[in-house]
Amino acid sequence: MKFFIDTADLDEIMEANDLGVLDGVTTNPSLCAKIGVSDFEGHIAKICGIVEGDVSAEVISTEYDEIIEEGRNIASIADNVVVKVPLIKDGIKAIKTFSEEGIKTNCTLCFSASQALIAAKAGATYISPFIGRLDDISSEGMDLIADIRLVYDNYGFDTEILAASIRHPMHLLESARLGADVATMPLKVIDQLLKHPLTDIGLEKFLADWDELQKSLK
Ligand code: E4P
Repeated sequence: MKFFIDTADLDEIMEANDLGVLDGVTTNPSLCAKIGVSDFEGHIAKICGIVEGDVSAEVISTEYDEIIEEGRNIASIADNVVVKVPLIKDGIKAIKTFSEEGIKTNCTLCFSASQALIAAKAGATYISPFIGRLDDISSEGMDLIADIRLVYDNYGFDTEILAASIRHPMHLLESARLGADVATMPLKVIDQLLKHPLTDIGLEKFLADWDELQKSLK
């Protein structure tokens, strides 16, 4: 399973990258707005320079011609950039065109398996089902991951399932159980994956016992 970080914050990306298990980055307009990105292309270029893996950068256009122009421009930023396109009619058309041009895409804002099926048929590199936002409206986000996995496996689609809108470690674990190819998470969730109180208690005891041993040897 690939781990992506879901942020536009360079410090967070560097911190996650230093862990050595980071495979990519996802950004969106809200994440860029959160940290006040003023030079979008320059900022994406910096992220692409930090991380070797795929970096998703989202178009803000919603009309086919404009999505194509904006997406080609984003694709020219770096070799590891992925054009993130919303799951709307013109977005699907644009994904088909990008796929024919060899431009990688991340189809975003997916909330149903039927949407995911269309995105795969258009040739999306990644499909981003938003788990947390479904949970927020009392719908089972994990069912969507399972449905997409089933549909994609039925027909052998190559589109990678990128579990998005992950809010806590159980979202990540369930996505892994269900066979999502990628999970994108905030830094906070990556940190939480490491945590277990018994690890902390166990380490404290190991170190204390070692100290006692050293004292007894003097
Ligand atoms: C990533 O590609 C998505 O844009 C992101 O995971 C959405 O997360 P949110 O629902 O927490 O905003």
